[in-house]
Amino acid sequence: MGAWKEGRREDPKPCREQDQGLFEIIGRDGRARLGRLHTSHGVLETPALLPVVNPNIRTIEPREMWDRYGIGALITNSYIIWKHEELKTKAATDGVHALLDFPGIVMTDSGTFQSYIYGDVDVGVDEIVEFQQSIGVDIATMLDVFSRPDMTHEQVEHCVDETILRAQQSVDASGTTMLNGPIQGGLFKDLRTKSAKGMAAFDFAVHPIGGIVPVMEQHKYKDYAKIMLATLPYLPPHRPVHMFGCGHPMLFPMSIALGADLFDSAAYALFARDGRLLTPWGTEKIESLMEWPMMMPCVANVTPIDVKALGKQERETLLARYNLEMTLSELSRCKQAIRDGTIWRLVERRSHQHPALREAFLWLSTRPQQAMMKLKMLDDMILNDRDAGRERGEQAGTWEEGWSWLVHAQETPRKGGEPWGGEDTFVRPQIVAARRQVIDRWQPSGIGGTGQEHVLVMHGSPGPWRDRLSDIMVRLTHHAPGLEVMILTPVGLVPYSLEDLNPYAHIDGPDWLWRRRPNLPWVRRELDRLSLGERKIVTVDMLGEGIQFRCMTALHEAGVLEGTDDTSASEKPLDRESREATKLLIYRRLVSDKLTVLMNVDFEAARKLLLGATFVVNRQGRVKNAITPEGDHLASPRLGDGGLSLTGAGAVALHKLRTVDAPTGLGISPERPVTGVGPAWLVVDDDAEPFVRQGRNVFHGFVLAVDAWIQPSQTCLIVNKQGDLLGHGLSNGTADEFGGFKKGIAVKTRGGILL
Ligand code: GUN
Repeated sequence: MGAWKEGRREDPKPCREQDQGLFEIIGRDGRARLGRLHTSHGVLETPALLPVVNPNIRTIEPREMWDRYGIGALITNSYIIWKHEELKTKAATDGVHALLDFPGIVMTDSGTFQSYIYGDVDVGVDEIVEFQQSIGVDIATMLDVFSRPDMTHEQVEHCVDETILRAQQSVDASGTTMLNGPIQGGLFKDLRTKSAKGMAAFDFAVHPIGGIVPVMEQHKYKDYAKIMLATLPYLPPHRPVHMFGCGHPMLFPMSIALGADLFDSAAYALFARDGRLLTPWGTEKIESLMEWPMMMPCVANVTPIDVKALGKQERETLLARYNLEMTLSELSRCKQAIRDGTIWRLVERRSHQHPALREAFLWLSTRPQQAMMKLKMLDDMILNDRDAGRERGEQAGTWEEGWSWLVHAQETPRKGGEPWGGEDTFVRPQIVAARRQVIDRWQPSGIGGTGQEHVLVMHGSPGPWRDRLSDIMVRLTHHAPGLEVMILTPVGLVPYSLEDLNPYAHIDGPDWLWRRRPNLPWVRRELDRLSLGERKIVTVDMLGEGIQFRCMTALHEAGVLEGTDDTSASEKPLDRESREATKLLIYRRLVSDKLTVLMNVDFEAARKLLLGATFVVNRQGRVKNAITPEGDHLASPRLGDGGLSLTGAGAVALHKLRTVDAPTGLGISPERPVTGVGPAWLVVDDDAEPFVRQGRNVFHGFVLAVDAWIQPSQTCLIVNKQGDLLGHGLSNGTADEFGGFKKGIAVKTRGGILL
């Protein structure tokens, strides 16, 4: 077919000169990110697909990719251009963009893949990088050494070491051109980690994950997931990650959820050549189709039967278009899922499309042994036992570290319902993160007196629980102040004080999910995790009439209310004064538990902060504002997600509570939970101080130091070098992400502290 003519799209605008080569994050869902890569041929929105264009065989013209499909970047092979005299001469005189007739970003590969297919290549390490630079590519690739899955540990280590050895030489040869630093390591997790750490030390712009084409061709998706988890946590987060040769849409959601930013696809054209269609659930053969798996614009007016009747060339081009459109459509779905905070749910759904993908998913989320042992899975897999993971010996290291890396980046609490998805629900990283937060930080009240040897577990009904339980809570708090009341939800036990917290309060599932009788051994283990393991359990079904009576009777029967008069405990109303005083205790517990769990405030300190506090309550009985005895508004519980919003006065109060030193460095996320030390601090440069005080966001590049426990979407305090409070806001990253980024928002400031 001839050159594409219809509807020209404008040429890209070069990025600002000072932004050249920078990558910024503009949105995220855990480790999945929406980014912008700045180049002189435009700003590439990621995750992005770079179609592979063979300069000799152009199934779809690059110009058409730009104009019709909105493709911002493509990848071609510099070695092929270098080998062909005619192409080489044209590229040398007119540049690679003119050679391809593509105005956007051009990435080139180096010939490594050819060496994998055909044996050695006859080009030098400097030579191929210098050539790429000379023809004006935007992102060049060094000549890495391909590691195959069938190689021994020794052979692969040689590939990894040799690639690292060539790194500096390649960076030097690239001049100002952005350079890809591929990660090798075959199927060996230790070597993947070694390669990632080794390559991270050089000034590369992008890190492709190499050596994965044969892994994908053989449908070894579990190995693919292992490779990602052994690699990505060790790469500098401010450099985009490219999955070399990954163009099958089926792999996009999982790859993106684990941190991939770029993909390249020769698959759209190669599969078309064999009459195969790419879909998010696998590959279909045109020969066996009467209908389209999904309707795509390019086949709107034709049926598979019409297409089968076309000549070979025409058919191939149409199917390549179909594949490209399908691939772009899945990518777009992933991007929306990141915006919606549902990328893992997409991974979960897609995992059912192919047995090997399901295997990869189960490995990722449940560990191999537990995937085989369902019962155990329902228990331990839900969590937090990093030590159990470590005990798994050889396999433990990378899975544990990788999974922790993924969970640590999850935003919690979130807005919206959490649809029940069977056992997979337990292992959604955001659920694991939410549970870790409660388990690591929440503490029993420690108030002695009646009830201190028991825990009341309410079960049988979805939220909102406050409607059913608020009166009972007043009575119980009055008559049995030592009793802890917990609610049994499908994702675990949650204290009554956190009864509106997402995801616990927002699980959407069938009725039977709530009606199941409590599994007592499991409840016991949950209580152990919440430091209530010693207590006797009283369970009460929330469903049905007379809940107050049933509750009191059960507690009497268990001996909890012994010593109090039977009738007064269960029936007599409290006098107004006791009732109001008790409500105040409940409100105080509610806000102090939220300060402890959501802002990492020390349990005792949070309680002290709220002594004498008053609370503004809405008509539904929900606390709107917590007010200090001095009349300062400290914080407000949020209706949507059960979170807590800090005010300026609240930030000042939490800033004063700090007992540990100010942070001094950037870039380390904690190995173990750091609890009771308050919201993370973020130290900013003097230049940023006036802006933050006025409530403006903090940008990367102005951050000098950060506490290790900072997490995305969590409240943090912004301070200057002297430790003075400048403002408070919500972090956009984990500690390991603050070191390298030079562009983008580091903290969304919620309030500044004026001098
Ligand atoms: N294309 C597909 N895999 C690879 C790889 O490992 N290295 C390079 N340079 N290109 C690739």
